[in-house]
Amino acid sequence: MANYEVHEHDVLVIGAGGAGLRAAIEASAQGVNVGLVCKSLLGKAHTVMAEGGVAAALANVDEQDDWKVHFVDTMNGGKGMNNWRMAQLHAQEAPERVRELERWGAVFDRTKEGKILQRAFGGHKYKRLCHVGDRTGLEMIRTLQDQGIHRGFNVYMECAVTKLLKDGDRISGAFGYYREDGRYVLFKAKAIVLATGGVGKAFTVTSNSWEYTADGQALAYDAGADLIDMEFVQFHPTGMVWPPGVRGILVTEGVRGEGGILTNSEKKRFMRDYLPESTKSEFSVDDEESKRWVEAAIAGQKTDAKRPPELSTRDNVARAIYTEVKEGRGSPHGGVFLDISYQDAARVRKKLPSMYHQFKDLADVDITAGPMEVGPTMHYIMGGIRVEADTQQTRVPGLFAAGECSGGMHGANRLGGNSLSDLIVFGRLAGLGAAEYVKGLGNNALAINNDHIEAAIKEMDEPFEIGKQADAKNPYDIQKELNQIMSTYVGIFRNEEDLTTGIAKLKNLKEQVKKAGVKGSKVFNPGWHMCRDLTNMMIASEAIAHSALSRKESRGAHSRLDFTELDPELAKFNTSISKDGDAMKLEKTAKPVMPEELKELFAKKETK
Ligand code: FUM
Repeated sequence: MANYEVHEHDVLVIGAGGAGLRAAIEASAQGVNVGLVCKSLLGKAHTVMAEGGVAAALANVDEQDDWKVHFVDTMNGGKGMNNWRMAQLHAQEAPERVRELERWGAVFDRTKEGKILQRAFGGHKYKRLCHVGDRTGLEMIRTLQDQGIHRGFNVYMECAVTKLLKDGDRISGAFGYYREDGRYVLFKAKAIVLATGGVGKAFTVTSNSWEYTADGQALAYDAGADLIDMEFVQFHPTGMVWPPGVRGILVTEGVRGEGGILTNSEKKRFMRDYLPESTKSEFSVDDEESKRWVEAAIAGQKTDAKRPPELSTRDNVARAIYTEVKEGRGSPHGGVFLDISYQDAARVRKKLPSMYHQFKDLADVDITAGPMEVGPTMHYIMGGIRVEADTQQTRVPGLFAAGECSGGMHGANRLGGNSLSDLIVFGRLAGLGAAEYVKGLGNNALAINNDHIEAAIKEMDEPFEIGKQADAKNPYDIQKELNQIMSTYVGIFRNEEDLTTGIAKLKNLKEQVKKAGVKGSKVFNPGWHMCRDLTNMMIASEAIAHSALSRKESRGAHSRLDFTELDPELAKFNTSISKDGDAMKLEKTAKPVMPEELKELFAKKETK
């Protein structure tokens, strides 16, 4: 039997982005012993890619704002698919979580009066995005990391978990390996918080970092938790499109929040043509009105001008750009134009410093002098591990999840900025939930089954055995094929024929994954890591494709060309995916019903 390190913690947090760090801080504050596992180095978290701001109804700029408006915006953005209790907790607690970050040292941009400055973002009725230029996620991670390291929890860097271990039904630990040298490691833990983020690396064009390979979703699925609403995949409207090596990198919505204008090759400001009928009245009708709105925003003044159409929700803007390009009105490299260069150059550099450098250094484009070329990029998955709203516990006792890997909060489409707030609200609740669960267990010892460890080791060793065979497959070739399948058949627009083809291709690809092999040693061997990542991405991809086929309507980010209307009945059910032996089971399960007092906050009818 192979050697492995052993560590023991009350709570093990897997993932060290915003949600994981906040969970670890909270569990630690509750007095339990905490370990934190990061797939990369501490501080190198994908959270830094949420650039434009953290949404919280502080009402510092638009004093009419409050949690109820934020709640309604979030539910409308999610087209009613959101878990209402999560959306309520999120809207109510986000302001205090942001103030807490400030107390812990986060340096937000300021209003003239010295309050935290807030900017506009798509789908938010008021200016709600607390920000640090366009480096908000980075500042959040810096602050949480700083707070975290003084808590005294153990951090395991460049470490990936491959298996959750259970004693009967309960979580009792996790098995994994260090990516740098392949050492195996066993964590004994009474509770585990998954905070591993998203699934973007299953798609060709994505804003997601290399760590986003569906690890938490796959670990939870394998351990018996449900995945819900995996069909809801968000394409951010604006990623870089040129040069090819940087395609997909995020161009923050903050550019549009600061007044950035989208045009096509005919110089037409096309977004006005794509506003859903029900929201048309919320947006400015002509360039003059949009201009007045931007001028007022820059001056920090009130205005009766309505928001520019570029601030429609992400699903609409992404579909609009996709359609403009497909119909031949795109930019030279297959995107559209996003222009903020009409504003004062010094202001653009101050408000959007990362965008300025990103385009200057990577594309040789000066965004203060001309437009950027942008196009949709896979950015976020709204679906994920089903959790109980107040504690973030899954249906597996002792298993918790928070942040992007969990599902329910954002429904069918997430509003920009609601992810950073989600991380700190639900990261804290998960840490609290896990600590309380551990305290409730008392001194009851949990066992680790040696057979499970041996099986986990065998699974990890296998790619080296397969690599000796003549018909071994290169894991990177398989990833490329996976990317093509997901982007071609399970993309922004879907239909039955494509989804069925995609599912059949995924089934074939699964057989290839079983033959993925590598040579060499376990010392930093990326091909070996990819073998593991592929297993995880395949589970998520199959869940996405099957869920998408089963949802016969268009809602939020899920656009069916063969079912273009929204079916109000379908908002009553989650698409639930669970493991049934070796098969993937799909069910429609009833969603929690919103109480009357919250229903009364909605005046508007549902729309797609
Ligand atoms: O556009 C952005 O800055 C991304 C923010 C988000 O996804 O929340």
